[in-house]
Amino acid sequence: MIKKCLFPAAGYGTRFLPATKAMPKEMLPVVNKPLIQYGVEEALDAGLTEISIVTGRGKRALEDHFDISYELENQIKGTDKEKYLVGIRRLLSECSFSYTRQTEMKGLGHAILTGRPLIGDEPFAVVLADDLCVNLDGDGVLMQMVKLYNQYRCTIIAIQEVDPQETNKYGVIAGDLIGDDLYRVRNMVEKPAPEDAPSNLAIIGRYILTPDIFDLIKQTEPGKGGEIQITDALMKQAQNGCVIAYKFKGKRFDCGGAEGYIEATNFCFENFYKTGKAY
Ligand code: UTP
Repeated sequence: MIKKCLFPAAGYGTRFLPATKAMPKEMLPVVNKPLIQYGVEEALDAGLTEISIVTGRGKRALEDHFDISYELENQIKGTDKEKYLVGIRRLLSECSFSYTRQTEMKGLGHAILTGRPLIGDEPFAVVLADDLCVNLDGDGVLMQMVKLYNQYRCTIIAIQEVDPQETNKYGVIAGDLIGDDLYRVRNMVEKPAPEDAPSNLAIIGRYILTPDIFDLIKQTEPGKGGEIQITDALMKQAQNGCVIAYKFKGKRFDCGGAEGYIEATNFCFENFYKTGKAY
């Protein structure tokens, strides 16, 4: 059973400056909730109750968000404003939260390795909170992936078809179709130019990883931009054993940039806020 979910949240969020100068990108609100809260809700809905967050300098607001605010609780006690806190109270009562800090921002692979002491030797999920994923018609994306993990018992990565001109923003896979929307990964390239991309199937911010990934990350040399990429370690895992890529059901918004963030805001406003499902 997978219980743990790791949130690498130490990045600088440079695409969203100056908003992210003193505030973590993961705390940007989509309508009335910060991005990271959507991610933790998705994890809890998938049965993952042990939440581990990799933070960095200037990210203390993340810890404060997943804690009681006594003054606030006292202030709104017995008023109809208590309804605004129903969602976050559920997370606080049903999940545990632990934190570690990445002191040098050496990439996503390095951030995941930094989380190793919180995870130990068991399979775990990874959520990049700036990818907001929703599925209005059934299981959330992590839940879909947990079900697949229970069946295949190997690393599962979420993929999405992207505009072929945009492959240079993603890790891109090549694989053999083994079932509905399921590929066994053969090759993986980090941010390829459109002409070098093996497909338009791009890796997005949801993973279920088996713990052998940690040693593979350790053996990984820094890649593009001096960062330790998770893609390189995943490629080794695919060569040694098995990595399955899953074209998930639902929508994904890239909230690390303005365009996806605005789309997510409009979507959540229409589907959650206006319908009273936003708390
Ligand atoms: P991104 O590249 O999307 O995030 O990393 P970023 O670096 O914060 O944003 P930009 O590109 O400068 O705008 C994907 C995820 O990995 C985390 C980020 O916080 C984000 O959730 N990350 C990235 C780390 O935790 N540490 C790192 O060193 C790099």
